[in-house]
Amino acid sequence: MTERIPKSNKLWGGRFSGGVDAALHQFHASLPFDARMWREDLTASVAHARMLGATGILTAEESAGLIAGLQALLAAWEPNGPEIDDQEDIHSKVEAALCEALGPLAGKLHTARSRNDQVATDFRLYLRNGCDQLDAALQETQRALLACAEAHLDVVMPGFTHLQHAQPVLTAHHLLAYVWMLARDRERVADARVRINRLPLGAAALAGTKFPIDREMVARDLGFESILENSLDAVADRDFAVEFLAACSLTMMHLSRLCEEIILWASQEFAWIELPEGYCTGSSIMPQKKNPDGAELIRGKSGRVFGDLLGLLTTLKGLPLAYNKDLQEDKEAAFDALDTTLACLRIAAGMMRGIVFRRDRTLAALAGEMSAATEIADYLAEKGVPFRDAHHVSGEIVRYADSQGKGLADLSLTELRQYSDLIEDDLPPLLTPEAVVAAKTSSGGTAPARVREQLEKVRAVVG
Ligand code: ARG
Repeated sequence: MTERIPKSNKLWGGRFSGGVDAALHQFHASLPFDARMWREDLTASVAHARMLGATGILTAEESAGLIAGLQALLAAWEPNGPEIDDQEDIHSKVEAALCEALGPLAGKLHTARSRNDQVATDFRLYLRNGCDQLDAALQETQRALLACAEAHLDVVMPGFTHLQHAQPVLTAHHLLAYVWMLARDRERVADARVRINRLPLGAAALAGTKFPIDREMVARDLGFESILENSLDAVADRDFAVEFLAACSLTMMHLSRLCEEIILWASQEFAWIELPEGYCTGSSIMPQKKNPDGAELIRGKSGRVFGDLLGLLTTLKGLPLAYNKDLQEDKEAAFDALDTTLACLRIAAGMMRGIVFRRDRTLAALAGEMSAATEIADYLAEKGVPFRDAHHVSGEIVRYADSQGKGLADLSLTELRQYSDLIEDDLPPLLTPEAVVAAKTSSGGTAPARVREQLEKVRAVVG
């Protein structure tokens, strides 16, 4: 005989004559991972018990007794939550503990509700809190990027397209680009929170209940913005978790791009930055190594968060309404994405706080190069030459400089005038990296004055 878990251990044992196979029990039990929703389960149960009393579904004494029992568990399980045993999930765990404390009264708590609306409620409460944690961690990372930008306001470096030198930019401008990305991530998290913050409880198993419940009261009690209006929708959909995962995924995508740049900048070929030692590791065989493991691991972990998103979408796509056990797969995906994204944000913030740009190296990267070519074209265009022709002339000058092994800023006026007699002595000073940067005065551009304005705006957005 295979081992069996006794039916007396179950919330649903009545219909069964024997116990459940131990292997199936272990396979479907979610307590090992959903126990982390213990506070949410107890808090939602307190609200439910209060409502059962207020509506007269239970007596005032019964309601008060249940609330006291639940609150005692809340206190007893702080701070680490309940012990993981062979209970099926956090809902059965709470009920079993309550039963032990209160006896038969505990059995009245489940009046007018089902685990289906209960789990959806707990999960929404948990992710709502997750959104608040993400927002705080995103802000922390923004602040670290901002501090790094402020510390490097006068550093000029090559800006790239196609990973080829394009036009020089202020390092601060480059870093602020990421601060704005994270600002939109915060908007997305806030937006996901709006739709997470709707109450499923009261949907019961799928169809509602005959008991005269007051869902609005429960919603108010738990801080939900509104109730979900359709009981089937309330228990069957997990679109809110998908949105949460999508928000985490976009944050991870942004962090991954930042980390890719950090890894490049820290390489010997660039050597633009000094990484803080605390965020690097050494090699067991090559004593000279200082590897950017923190940045690499963030880049790597983006893949796993995208996997969480795709996994849940795939789980959901074929499910008939309403609840199916497949939905239990939602939690590990969301918890993993939350833990991973929070950890990556915190590491990224710590790393950014310690990064120092090496001006000698960014300047060296700009020496003898051609990224002022657009300046020459713009200069001629301002003098009335059609931009396409001006572009051509500038291209010829680049070809000439290249053949001479010079950068554009190194060409003499005589050399420049070989290509157009519209060129005068006011052009060469416009070709240094600092001058090229200073010329980009359009709003959102990289001119120092514009970047200082941008800093003001972004500080207000970051908070
Ligand atoms: N552990 C389950 C889950 O996470 C709780 C809901 C169980 N409901 C049910 N009808 N079996 O989805």
